[in-house]
Amino acid sequence: MSSWFPPEASVQAAAMDRAFSGIWFGAVLALVVLVGLAVTFVIQFRRRDPSARGAAAGPVDRRLQVIWVLGAMILAVTAFAADLGGFFGQTVPPLGATEVDVVARQDGWTFHHPGGYVADTLHVTAGENVVLKLRSDDLPHSFTVPALRINQGVLPDRTTRTWFMADRVDTFAVRSNTHGTAPTALITHTPDSYARWQDSVSDLFATMDPVEVGAHLYLKLGCKTCHSLDGSRLTGPSLQDVFGGTFESRTGAMNLVDEAFVRESLLDPAASVRAGYEPVMTVFAGRIDDREIDAIIAWLKTISTFVESAADDAEVEG
Ligand code: HEC
Repeated sequence: MSSWFPPEASVQAAAMDRAFSGIWFGAVLALVVLVGLAVTFVIQFRRRDPSARGAAAGPVDRRLQVIWVLGAMILAVTAFAADLGGFFGQTVPPLGATEVDVVARQDGWTFHHPGGYVADTLHVTAGENVVLKLRSDDLPHSFTVPALRINQGVLPDRTTRTWFMADRVDTFAVRSNTHGTAPTALITHTPDSYARWQDSVSDLFATMDPVEVGAHLYLKLGCKTCHSLDGSRLTGPSLQDVFGGTFESRTGAMNLVDEAFVRESLLDPAASVRAGYEPVMTVFAGRIDDREIDAIIAWLKTISTFVESAADDAEVEG
């Protein structure tokens, strides 16, 4: 039976195929019985010489009627009960599942993975439960992965959900039942290859403006562990009100924190160390590119009152 289908690659697939086989065999059985009876009756009750007819049939046997009605009902209820578990299993995602926000458009899909990783293909770890929250930006689409036996409508102005657990590392085609939906793929990873994929998806700029990217990098690159945003001192000074400020370095020199200074602080932190702090900042040279540095600078400006007052002054002067 299952050779009719794509390989089973999720926990749900086997249950779904069993239900399908059950219904299929039931339907074939019903077909054979009904056609068999029809043929038998056609032969038995064909028009014949009146002398060859037997006596007229008596009243209908009630027992037969009861067996027919009850039998059909029991069959239907059994099928319903047998698949109810599967239905809830499919519709109610398990607690603690990884959530991915999915947006469909005719020209492509956008998957918002945990941690802010955005891609046009879906990436998950094999063996983990994944919930998809799907919505469409234009027309109705569908999110269909045959190997996982998932088929979920993706509608405008409404969020639909589905979940799955892929049981192997592979690449699966994602199709749509609707016309004109861009194709995409589901890529399942080992934990290691998932981490490598995360490293490789660096184009945060495709979906965020530079200030948002800067705020995101503060979390992603671990600045948060040493720098607060509320003025409080951690291992390093708070990043609030840093840009545009002037601070004394260990050597006694006064440094204005401008774009060049931030760049140097990231690439070569030991070049100038602020008085009262240890030279322990992570060296980000090689871990961060120019665009990301610019994004951090743009973001630092938004959390510094020195910059705001500079803007106000400019307004007054202008
Ligand atoms: C391991 C802890 C640590 C991490 C992680 C870290 N920093 Fe620092 N940072 C420091 C310390 C300590 C100082 C103060 C000493 C110095 O100037 O090097 C500092 C200084 C700075 C300065 C200069 C401030 C000044 O007045 O001299 C900037 C700007 C800065 N960090 C930004 C960042 C950003 C942005 C990140 C993340 C990409 C980051 N830091 C990650 C510890 C850290």
